[in-house]
Amino acid sequence: MITTPLTRWFDLQAPVFGAPMAGVGGGELARAVSLGGGLGMIGVGSATEPEWLAAQARVPAESDVSFGVGLMAWVLADRPELLDAAIAAEPALVSVSFGDPAPFVGPLHDAGIAVATAVNNRADVEQAQEAGVDVIVAQGTEAGGHTGRRATLPLLQEVLTLTDRPVLAAGGIATGAGLAAVLVAGAAGAWIGTPLLSCTEAMNTPAARARIRAAGGDSTVLTRAFDVAQGLAWPQRWPGRALVNEFTDTWHGREDELRGDAAAAALVAEARRSGDVEHAPLYAGESVGLVTAEVSATEVVRRLAAEAEVTLRGVTRLLSG
Ligand SMILES: Cc1cc2nc3c(=O)[nH]c(=O)nc-3n(C[C@H](O)[C@H](O)[C@H](O)COP(=O)(O)O)c2cc1C
Repeated sequence: MITTPLTRWFDLQAPVFGAPMAGVGGGELARAVSLGGGLGMIGVGSATEPEWLAAQARVPAESDVSFGVGLMAWVLADRPELLDAAIAAEPALVSVSFGDPAPFVGPLHDAGIAVATAVNNRADVEQAQEAGVDVIVAQGTEAGGHTGRRATLPLLQEVLTLTDRPVLAAGGIATGAGLAAVLVAGAAGAWIGTPLLSCTEAMNTPAARARIRAAGGDSTVLTRAFDVAQGLAWPQRWPGRALVNEFTDTWHGREDELRGDAAAAALVAEARRSGDVEHAPLYAGESVGLVTAEVSATEVVRRLAAEAEVTLRGVTRLLSG
């Protein structure tokens, strides 16, 4: 078994955190990741209702496994009730990413809940440390969903020089060898989203899962097109990495024309409602080409950890050769 400061802290069998994914990761996915020995997270989006979170949190809780909740700082500024709902759900970990986590760390710590935040550059690390977060997630641009512009490996190495806190690597980790690589680099584990996008427990549609399995690693784009079209208040510095489709082919790079375009807004809203994969956002990272089967998240986590162990044994053999 691989142990790190974070497997010890959260009593995990695998150094794998299931990233919070709004719209994809609810209680079933979190439970499945935790049953695999990792820590599963429930993703809370900008339109999530507190009652939904309460209901989802009961799923892992009823199976007696720990779980986490992922919040977004820019959303909490207007919707503090989501922080209250997260605290009431009694998770082991709450992440507050995409904005300054400082205002939220105190209430979470007062409730005995550990706090993580994603960082995308050096300034974010300083902000995270000042805020007093417990776990830092170095999120590279390879990641699916909203992310920064620095690549995972150089970002991870730099973050590790800046902090003594445990650091998780996020963005592009989808094999045991990839997990082993970030552990050898000094991460305390991996924070994976894309490898869970075709899991049986995910809330995305069968059509979306099929599209994910068919997609190659070259077919993602880092774009603001969906956020602009939907009029979402996502801060500009975090575009989202999504699969290319008809919508991004038409609008990526032409975001200024999209602003206030009612027809485009209606198109994306309808595509999300009907499951039209050509016009809805299908957020996914560069490791998507490695996601080729529909399996349980429990299996994904177990396999990652087992294969990382094999790789790490191979690494030690390199030294004796
Ligand atoms: C579909 C999708 C939705 C996401 N939603 C969130 C979210 O709600 N909150 C969050 O902090 N991160 C979110 N992320 C980013 C993940 O937390 C994580 O950083 C990323 O998935 C890790 O990289 P990977 O996708 O290459 O595994 C999302 C990612 C994806 C793919």
